[in-house]
Amino acid sequence: MLGMSRREFLLGSAATLAASAASYGWAQSAMAADLQLPLNYLSHEIMPGKITERMMGFGSDGPAPVIRLKQGETKSVEVTNNLHEASVVHWHGFRHENAMDGVPYLTQNPIELGETFRYQIRSPDAGTFWYHPHCNTLDQMARGMTGMLIVDEPEDPGFNQDLPLNIRDFRLGNDGQFAALFKPRNAARGGTLGTVSTVNWQVQPTYDLPAGSLLRLRLAVTDVTRIGRYHVSGAEAKVIALDSHPVPQPLPAKDILLSPGQRADIALRMPDHEGETAELVLNTLAGSRLMATFRAMGASLNRNLAELKPLPRNPVSEPDLANAEILDFLFGWSPDGDEPIQSICGSLGYTFWSINRTPWLGDTPDPLAPLAVMKVGKSYIVRLKNNTPNDHPIHLHGLAFKLIRSDKRPLPPLFTDTALLLSGETMDVALVADNPGNWAFHCHVIEHQKTGLAGYLRVEA
Ligand code: C2O
Ligand code: CU
Ligand code: CU
Repeated sequence: MLGMSRREFLLGSAATLAASAASYGWAQSAMAADLQLPLNYLSHEIMPGKITERMMGFGSDGPAPVIRLKQGETKSVEVTNNLHEASVVHWHGFRHENAMDGVPYLTQNPIELGETFRYQIRSPDAGTFWYHPHCNTLDQMARGMTGMLIVDEPEDPGFNQDLPLNIRDFRLGNDGQFAALFKPRNAARGGTLGTVSTVNWQVQPTYDLPAGSLLRLRLAVTDVTRIGRYHVSGAEAKVIALDSHPVPQPLPAKDILLSPGQRADIALRMPDHEGETAELVLNTLAGSRLMATFRAMGASLNRNLAELKPLPRNPVSEPDLANAEILDFLFGWSPDGDEPIQSICGSLGYTFWSINRTPWLGDTPDPLAPLAVMKVGKSYIVRLKNNTPNDHPIHLHGLAFKLIRSDKRPLPPLFTDTALLLSGETMDVALVADNPGNWAFHCHVIEHQKTGLAGYLRVEA
């Protein structure tokens, strides 16, 4: 019974206990977990020469560990909370069992100080994913708790090296210490930006890599706010997957629009001569910003991008558009007078946003009704209508959806879990509701999520 807290026994429903006994087995829960993931306070040098205090992280030091699984493999991850506030850990993009999804009250009780929860994580899809808390989410993510989660294809596509790039900002003052993590007037608009951009917690890192080698860059934007366009310069490079799903045809590695929660896999061919560099660049309104440098070392391996095997398609069901039911979602302001509810998972103290005119007021043991109920196995067109002057990266847990059409721009026919909905845009996406459970559905600008722009969809038999 190691790994299950007393609280879960007291509060867990009979169904939850039966499910854990049946699918994981008591024997397994008595064994050591594959991975220990303690939630800790820590200090780290983010800005050169300055130690940032009161960071929060996974593990005892530095950036969160990169967690790797094989496609379809189950790993047990034991999360022990050493923070003086509650938490849960969510596996962003995983189409797994609802009970392992890490959403307070919808799928589990918050993990409190000193408690341990054992996740059994598994992904039917290969690709680049990430993990983060889903309780006190702004505070915990802004202070450092975002990590990369990689699911390997059964067959290696032929890269020399794989380089996860956890891209995010920190909101630090000149002294290297956290500034106010958000400003209410920004939360009611586009969100509060950080002040220091990092890759793997470093400012403009340089990676030394074999000359002429083939590199798989795995970009994950784990920032709480920043939407940006990225490109690679100085080397031949192609986008091979977006949001963990392979693109049908490789795309040029330029003008890659990524919002919080989104990922891009890039195949990069390193330059041939020692000392030559390629760069990852972020374009902002203020100009372009160097994010990371890739420097060629040694004699050229003379590889060629054409040697890479195409990534296999993930096992996502194709929605049946002809027979799909349409579900409408309106993203807008919050009606006046809605006060946030006190919750163990925190509140920013304001309600600015709503879905279908209902703001999410906080994570409580008696959550609001689902925004929609879907029948397992049926196809749906999910119509997303943005009635606000801001952009919202709309994220759905547990299911992958396909981009169908927009009233503003052509959309590639890609599967994703997070779609950037532009201001004023109406976008249709489609899915097969093939994974039962209560699936969180929210904007991934965390200030928006935490001030109302959240809810959940239910898939039931
Ligand atoms: Cu990446 Cu509900 O979250
Ligand atoms: Cu998620
Ligand atoms: Cu938003």
